Amino acid sequence: MCGIIGYVGSKQATPILLKGLKALEYRGYDSSGLTVQSDRLVTVRAVGEVSELVERVQHVRTQGTAGIAHTRWATHGIPSVENAHPHADCAGGISVVHNGIIENHIELREELIARGHVFASETDSEVIAHLIEERLSDCRPLFAAVRESLARVRGTYGLVVISKEIPQTLIAARMGSPLVIGVGDGEYFIASDPSAIIEQTKDVIFLDDGELAAVTSEGVSLMSLDAQEIQKETQQLDWDIETATKEGNPHFMLKEILEQPQVIENSCRGRIDLIEGRAVLGGLKEVEDRLREIDRVVIVGCGSAYYAGLVGEYLIEDLAGIPVEVELGSEYRYRKPIITERTVVLAISQSGETADTLEAIREAKRKNALTLGIINTVGSSIARETDAGVYCHAGPEIGVASTKAFVSQLAVLSLVGVYLGQLRGSLSDRNAGATLAALYELPDQVQEILNDRNLVTQTAKKYSSIENCLYLGRSFHAPIAYEGALKLKEVSYVHAEGYSSGEMKHGPIALIDQGFPSIVLCPEDSVFEKNCSNMQELRARRGPLIGITTKGAQIDHLVDARIDIPKTIECLQPILSTIPLQLFAYEMAIARKLNPDKPRNLAKSVTVE
Ligand code: G6P
Repeated sequence: MCGIIGYVGSKQATPILLKGLKALEYRGYDSSGLTVQSDRLVTVRAVGEVSELVERVQHVRTQGTAGIAHTRWATHGIPSVENAHPHADCAGGISVVHNGIIENHIELREELIARGHVFASETDSEVIAHLIEERLSDCRPLFAAVRESLARVRGTYGLVVISKEIPQTLIAARMGSPLVIGVGDGEYFIASDPSAIIEQTKDVIFLDDGELAAVTSEGVSLMSLDAQEIQKETQQLDWDIETATKEGNPHFMLKEILEQPQVIENSCRGRIDLIEGRAVLGGLKEVEDRLREIDRVVIVGCGSAYYAGLVGEYLIEDLAGIPVEVELGSEYRYRKPIITERTVVLAISQSGETADTLEAIREAKRKNALTLGIINTVGSSIARETDAGVYCHAGPEIGVASTKAFVSQLAVLSLVGVYLGQLRGSLSDRNAGATLAALYELPDQVQEILNDRNLVTQTAKKYSSIENCLYLGRSFHAPIAYEGALKLKEVSYVHAEGYSSGEMKHGPIALIDQGFPSIVLCPEDSVFEKNCSNMQELRARRGPLIGITTKGAQIDHLVDARIDIPKTIECLQPILSTIPLQLFAYEMAIARKLNPDKPRNLAKSVTVE
């Protein structure tokens, strides 16, 4: 998500930090900042591009040979100077940069305020600075103070701390958010991503979860969170800057597909209470009373977000028993939508800036509907203009064709379904518990699919010269068929149609012959038999068939190729079925020698009508 760079050595830190931040800009950002250690800590922060920070730094004396810096992509608190990192404690004695999410930040903040701490930002990260401050004032050494503070924290972090009192020392720690230490000649770097340091050194030490490092210009000492010393070898990276930004993957699209187990974890982090069997959505708390009274949900979105909305329709109707309609943002405003005060209009958008979705929300507001957002970009226009919402926490998505954001939208919609069902008393505790438990298992199941992705690659190679493809799915999987077809069109320029299986006989079957393959989503669920009948019908027209199914399903007699996925409960199965379709589209693009990161004619965010 956000980017970190730290430096300690004999050169001036500021230019090195700014260069590192520039290299991290590709990850997306909304603000940035740095702290340099001289006789005091000098911190400069700015909203916007790193060039804004460069401009500000010119007016401040930032002399010093140790420092830390950060590019932020907001998760808690809007993009602003106050919320930009580094964050200081009350006394300005230390400065912290942090990636990740501190889940228990609200309770820690309340505790710290009660003990007299004054907070300057809305971020979860700032609690770390104050926790460390307390331990330093108890005369604990910096390394121990950081380690003991982290014992209070629940969540994920990759962080670096610098202190006024201890010159030429950086303390780094990692739990769930990557950090790498670059080893130079009498100088050391710390970064969240090798791309920030690869031009300075290729000798690195990767920190693992639960590890801390004290880094000086003389060397690195490593320790575990339970104070055990650790020895690690330096490794040599053979990446160039281009490969480094993609974390060793040839394309952002693949990187983002492979990230999805972590993305689902992040979307659900702190939101699944398995003990109480509840979905915890703090972002909807304020509007809870109104949500109890609603009689209809209208979901609006464009592109993949619209298809996520269609899955949401099944999910919310199934889990919460509320009628749902899904509308294209681009059409909604041209109708005369019937909205009452008991209607919720829910926008789904990765960027939060899609013009048509934004206009649909404005229209709903004019008509006094309660407006909600499922948005990935914190502080974006839709996030600001809706009454309440749930962020996706998928991290910046760089590939133009949406992958991880789509999956995070489905995960969040499942949580919203459970939440609304519980709020309105329409979902039994047993169903709620089973859905949440299944959601909790999803990251491992997605990982399993990714581990077996070789089969998808081979299938894509075999079918790489096709010019048409039909995608079919029924019930929860109809929208996944649409999304699968969209992905293939977007990145491999193969003409693809997504249809609900039941509609196949009303037109598309006329296209089918031995040169027109179909991909059928047919996990063993309540509509499995019906999908098998459709496959028989396609076979009778000699259409080649690829089945996306669950392990053990009896479809070998129907298909030319099958891709197996693990089984989960019916309403969550679409999340798993999406993964092979993304991989297939990606591998088709590669087999057809196309660059999936730069599909022709497409823009990542459509901010005009
Ligand atoms: C563009 C992107 C799609 C995305 C759609 C909606 O078309 O290429 O991947 O689904 O916009 O974007 P949003 O940011 O609103 O989710």
